[in-house]
Amino acid sequence: MRIAKKILSIPPSATLAVNAKAQELAAQGRKIISLAVGEPDFPTPKHVRQAAKDALDEGFTRYTPVPGIPALRKTVAAYFAGISGQDELPTEAIMVSNGGKHALYNLFQVLLNPGETVLIPAPYWVSYPPMVLLAEGKPVIIPSTPEKRFLITTEDLERHASPSARILVLNSPSNPTGCHYTQDELDTLIGWAMERDIFVISDEIYDQLVYAPARPSSAVSWWVRFPDKVAVVNGLSKSMAMTGWRIGYVLAHPDLVKAMVRVQGQSTSNVCSITQKAALAALTGPMDSLQEMRTAFQRRRDLALERITSWPGVVCPRPDGAFYLFPRLDALYTPQRNTSEALCTHVLEQAGVALVPGAAFGDDRCVRFSYALDDQTLVTALDLVQDALLND
Ligand SMILES: Cc1ncc(COP(=O)(O)O)c(C=O)c1O
Repeated sequence: MRIAKKILSIPPSATLAVNAKAQELAAQGRKIISLAVGEPDFPTPKHVRQAAKDALDEGFTRYTPVPGIPALRKTVAAYFAGISGQDELPTEAIMVSNGGKHALYNLFQVLLNPGETVLIPAPYWVSYPPMVLLAEGKPVIIPSTPEKRFLITTEDLERHASPSARILVLNSPSNPTGCHYTQDELDTLIGWAMERDIFVISDEIYDQLVYAPARPSSAVSWWVRFPDKVAVVNGLSKSMAMTGWRIGYVLAHPDLVKAMVRVQGQSTSNVCSITQKAALAALTGPMDSLQEMRTAFQRRRDLALERITSWPGVVCPRPDGAFYLFPRLDALYTPQRNTSEALCTHVLEQAGVALVPGAAFGDDRCVRFSYALDDQTLVTALDLVQDALLND
């Protein structure tokens, strides 16, 4: 079969092996606990589900404008304005897409020319490099360390930037580390990029999952100053437990939005009409379920962090957000399991717990633990992993 070269340039998913193995073991009747989940274990709030039912009953089931229904774009603009202390932001600067992922995909498609480079701090969310490759760009990875809370500095950027650098991707709080830049830290990085005419994509999909005393930070105020050099991505997958609904959005220059409408208009067209009505309810309705989720995640973060950092030689910063821990576990590597994938395979076979190898996120010394599952199952899973790693 002849497949296009640009598709073959995308490396196979490093998580596939562990997932396939987990399914195989489950099919054999083994009880598998997954700490590999990338979505909240909470239901979508009731008022959001109700809004979807109402939309269906009212027959709101036809095509909508490609960038979203006007009411939703206006509400998203108000959301971005609200988090950055602006009175309002223009509706034409909002594009609604099928998840934050689709918003990012559209952005890379309309921003990159072949061979232009994209600076991606590691550990990174798995999809950034493949999306850049699909847009015929070149990912340039900027490593970081757990000792520095997996955050990068302008010195790191300086070391990796070349004149062909076109875009810098920032993701705070981060998947997979949960680590988060303060507003000052974010401002310094974005200021550096603005001075060099490097476009910043700020992926803020976990902005509502930041745990006190840390406070959310955002690039929106930079967009206001440099609307043609900054784009801010967000969505409801994480904050409203709406992963399956496929709803994300981006704040970008209206000309960029028009360009993204061209791409999206020839691929998926509008986001599902019913989802858009549900999203409207999510952004304008009560936020108590978000608060409940935040409290649970903070409690579970502390619980899992205490356990994981008690293992000998393990380094794991205390993350301020999202629902992941990304410990460096290479102190527990042995000659038989000396990569993150080998360690995850061992834990899966021995303990029946699925984890994601750090190699998938650009750091082979680490492993991602998700704590998006109930406290009791989380404790059971950590007991099992501990046993497999320390007592075998
Ligand atoms: C950092 C980051 N950005 C974007 C997304 C995309 O989310 P979705 O497309 O489900 O809205 C995810 C999902 O895991 C993520 O972790």
